[in-house]
Amino acid sequence: PIVNISQQANAVFQALAGADRIFEIMDMKEEIDTGYIDLVSAIVRRDGTITEHVGMSGRYAWKWEEDGEDKYQLLEGRLEFKNVDFSYDGKNQILKNISFYADPGEKIAFVGSTGAGKTTITNVITRFYEIDNGVIEVDGINIKNIKKEALRKAFGMVLQEVNLFSDTIEGNIKYGKLDADSDQINSAARLSGADSFIKRLPEGYDTEISGDGSSLSDGQNQLISISRAAIAEPPMLILDEATSSIDTATELEVTEAMDNLMAGSTSIVIAHRLSTIQNSDVIMVMENGKIIERGSHDKLIEEKGTYWQLYTGQLELD
Ligand SMILES: Nc1ncnc2c1ncn2[C@@H]1O[C@H](COP(=O)(O)OP(=O)(O)OP(=O)(O)O)[C@@H](O)[C@H]1O
Ligand SMILES: [Mg+2]
Repeated sequence: PIVNISQQANAVFQALAGADRIFEIMDMKEEIDTGYIDLVSAIVRRDGTITEHVGMSGRYAWKWEEDGEDKYQLLEGRLEFKNVDFSYDGKNQILKNISFYADPGEKIAFVGSTGAGKTTITNVITRFYEIDNGVIEVDGINIKNIKKEALRKAFGMVLQEVNLFSDTIEGNIKYGKLDADSDQINSAARLSGADSFIKRLPEGYDTEISGDGSSLSDGQNQLISISRAAIAEPPMLILDEATSSIDTATELEVTEAMDNLMAGSTSIVIAHRLSTIQNSDVIMVMENGKIIERGSHDKLIEEKGTYWQLYTGQLELD
């Protein structure tokens, strides 16, 4: 009985700690959002006027109200950082005077040692945190004026930490687009290449997976999270490559899946494996919150700087 009591006490303390965390979240203040610009599906008429469209049209427009009238601007997908400073705690500056841009359809990549601030860049693009100085613009619009919800709809995200839920594979892909039908789920999985391993599972798309991702390999978890991003057909993309080590064959599959997903969209890729980003329009090397080198793969190799050292294996990431 004494052993029993101590075990029960353990469960009670765990529950108390859990309840604490839940109440902490319930007590949190709601985010304030002063953004007023929305994102809608759009069609461009022959005469160039933009109209809103119900359902997916493959094109998007920014929408806001001005003098009682609806205004539209086509989403092109240009992203620009102008002298951005940011710190999480108001003391320790994480992003230091960051400036860069990506033209519509371009693929830009970030590499750099762990803690350099790469994931932080993606956190401020989607306004999970507000920057301290500088401006971030999408299609020339300051993102502070875009509704958070609209901004997050504009960017498909594959996060560094793969977040799967205890649900079926189909259910997990559907989190990207809740009203997706099985055709759409299938084609998203085909695009990412996840389809081939899913079909080999005895229960296919109905296979239950555990939330901690332990029932599938790291690479398979990544392919599912890429499928989830693909199904929403986002106009822009942020891919924060997972650091977990996967074998070379799976790495090729993941790279191919990411390339398929990125085709035609403005994409920001954070890479831990340089093989994923060689074909990027611009590669930025970050160190300690600053961009220390930038250029195409060929140019950076020619310069024989940090990127070259990484590429030739003289310097290790992480
Ligand atoms: N939520 C947070 N609150 C406070 N500090 C944070 C937070 N997230 C990251 N940091 C700090 O910001 C710095 C940059 O972190 P970031 O996650 O952007 O690095 P990274 O370049 O993505 O690294 P990695 O290659 O390991 O993914 C680190 O010093 C980290 O400790
Ligand atoms: Mg990171």
